[in-house]
Amino acid sequence: MKWSILALLATSCIASHVNLDKKSSCIGIQYDFGDNGGANDTRADAVKAAYVDAWNDYADHAFGFDGYNPLTKTGTTGSGGWGLIIIDGFDTAVIMGLKDIADRQLQHIASQNFNVSTDPQIDEFDTIIRLIGGLLSSYDLITSQLVPFAGDYNQTQVAKLLDGAKTLADFLSPVFSSPTGLPYFWINTTTRVPSEGFFQNTATFGTVILEYHRLSDLTGDETYRNQADRAEAWLLNPQPAPVYPSLVGSQVNIDSGQFENENAGWQSGVDSFFEYLIKSVVYDDTQQYAGEYQSFWTTAVESTQQHLAVHPYNHSELTFINILNNTGYPTDEMDDYSCFAGGNWLLGEHTCHALYNSTASGLNPLAIGWYDAETNLAYEAKYNNDSSEAAVARANADEWGYFIRYDDYGALYTLYPEPIESMFYAWRITGDEKWRDYNWEVFQAQQRDGKRPPVTMSSLFNVSMPNGGDQYPDIPSYYFAETLKYLYLTFADTDLVRLDAFVFNTEAHPMRVQKGTCAAAESS
Ligand SMILES: *[C@@H]1O[C@H](CO)[C@@H](O)[C@H](O)[C@H]1NC(C)=O
Ligand SMILES: *[C@@H]1O[C@H](CO)[C@@H](O)[C@H](O)[C@H]1NC(C)=O
Ligand SMILES: *[C@@H]1O[C@H](CO)[C@@H](O)[C@H](O)[C@H]1NC(C)=O
Ligand SMILES: *[C@@H]1O[C@H](CO)[C@@H](O)[C@H](O)[C@H]1NC(C)=O
Ligand SMILES: *[C@@H]1O[C@H](CO)[C@@H](O)[C@H](O)[C@H]1NC(C)=O
Ligand SMILES: *[C@@H]1O[C@H](CO)[C@@H](O)[C@H](O)[C@H]1NC(C)=O
Ligand SMILES: *[C@@H]1O[C@H](CO)[C@@H](O)[C@H](O)[C@H]1NC(C)=O
Ligand SMILES: *[C@@H]1O[C@H](CO)[C@@H](O)[C@H](O)[C@H]1NC(C)=O
Ligand SMILES: *[C@@H]1O[C@H](CO)[C@@H](O)[C@H](O)[C@H]1NC(C)=O
Repeated sequence: MKWSILALLATSCIASHVNLDKKSSCIGIQYDFGDNGGANDTRADAVKAAYVDAWNDYADHAFGFDGYNPLTKTGTTGSGGWGLIIIDGFDTAVIMGLKDIADRQLQHIASQNFNVSTDPQIDEFDTIIRLIGGLLSSYDLITSQLVPFAGDYNQTQVAKLLDGAKTLADFLSPVFSSPTGLPYFWINTTTRVPSEGFFQNTATFGTVILEYHRLSDLTGDETYRNQADRAEAWLLNPQPAPVYPSLVGSQVNIDSGQFENENAGWQSGVDSFFEYLIKSVVYDDTQQYAGEYQSFWTTAVESTQQHLAVHPYNHSELTFINILNNTGYPTDEMDDYSCFAGGNWLLGEHTCHALYNSTASGLNPLAIGWYDAETNLAYEAKYNNDSSEAAVARANADEWGYFIRYDDYGALYTLYPEPIESMFYAWRITGDEKWRDYNWEVFQAQQRDGKRPPVTMSSLFNVSMPNGGDQYPDIPSYYFAETLKYLYLTFADTDLVRLDAFVFNTEAHPMRVQKGTCAAAESS
């Protein structure tokens, strides 16, 4: 098993800060590419063209809408009404140097009133990671002058990006009014009264610190940092104690702060809580809780290696990260979201590549399972019986090491970024060209299967079909924010959005590193 990518990052940047002289000892998060970090313009331009293609389609038919159905070419609402696709995708256009598109996006964003919503309610999680994250990162990227044409944007409008982030955070403020300070999920946009929601889980509680610390640092207003830290404290001191150290469950009671299950893992519902612990340390390794964040995260990685990382039956070359059931037993199942962990720490050399490399479409499934290495049984009995579905699962597991869960939308492909994100980190941290090639493979598969003129790109129903099956009527905003950004940065010059200078939020929005050791060295 390979040691973690972010442990690498932790032992370089963070350890050097803790143990050694600040500037002279900075090893840096990014691999030292020397003269070999140049762009592959052919590939970078192809990704840029894919952005322009999908953007023009949206802009021609639904400019200003939050979402887009590329099959009917109509806009969709539901994320506040400020133009989610525009705000989420803006920093990607900035990074790509698509000045005309970015100017139009900036003009739109700067003209929004973020204190008034056309939707009846908005949620804390998506508003923070997509909207506030997108506003902060585009502000940071342009004002850092580290992106193309940075000085040419309308600076009055650029200033509105930070104003907008602050207005939105103030709009959300009532969600932190629970007895514990853990945020409610919804806020009624008319009454400003918050309420709980189904998705209130460890990830939604624990994916606030990076954006809110940044917002406090940029505005000088400590309100946001205090809101985030108060909620985070319940997660860092889990009650009752989890089965394995740091491997907390997925549900927390908002009134008592008590964990309600032992459903641990790196899956959806928990994932970005772990992600933000280490990223917040990279963002500012001098902050009050940096030591706590780092040690909680390190323990989680160690616990995962000891208790969750397993090989499936007869496929010792693959390493999966188990999800525990509600009482803390392994389920021999995981989801695509867990694949971000490869970038958060490189677990097994090619597990997540294998997920998209084995399907007929070349695209990765959403939900998988495997047969236990010792018992050769799946956790769910239905994969062990004589049904035809179980026979398909057996055949796939023999060949690939895993099967696609036939329920739970297991075969759905909604243009996820997670494996791509991991390959991007692997490339930027190790300098091994193989990771770039892997991202080129998945990009080509996306273009081949998702682009069927006049549809410029869409999600797909079935990764087990050679063409990905029927088109699914959605192009998520994170296709613009994350998927295309990580692909582009895999092929662009490695000095663009250096990992030493920026830390990506969970929606791929890069925040300017505040007080990391390497940032100090980088800017000196
Ligand atoms: C750049 O990418 C193209 C397209 O995949 C490939 O043909 C070419 O060999 C690559 N160039 C370099 C220098 O790797
Ligand atoms: C935002 O809207 C709320 C509710 O209408 C209002 O109370 C508040 O003063 C507004 N804030 C700003 C900064 O305009
Ligand atoms: C918001 O509150 C108003 C007033 O109580 C209510 O009429 C409306 O249904 C609420 N909206 C949602 C989405 O709950
Ligand atoms: C910059 O944007 C502001 C606000 O949208 C606008 O009033 C102003 O005319 C713009 N300046 C230029 C030079 O376009
Ligand atoms: C294990 O895999 C190998 C190679 O794919 C295959 O030949 C062998 O039959 C498998 N063994 C079992 C017990 O399934
Ligand atoms: C978790 O799995 C164990 C072992 O299979 C089982 O005994 C227990 O009932 C399961 N718990 C839940 C909540 O399903
Ligand atoms: C699987 O990976 C290999 C090695 O990178 C590559 O040659 C092949 O095209 C990939 N296949 C698919 C379906 O992505
Ligand atoms: C296999 O299990 C599934 C789910 O429990 C059940 O619906 C199905 O009838 C079973 N099939 C056979 C052939 O046992
Ligand atoms: C996906 O396609 C495969 C291969 O044709 C098929 O066996 C499977 O049932 C399909 N799954 C869904 C959910 O349609």
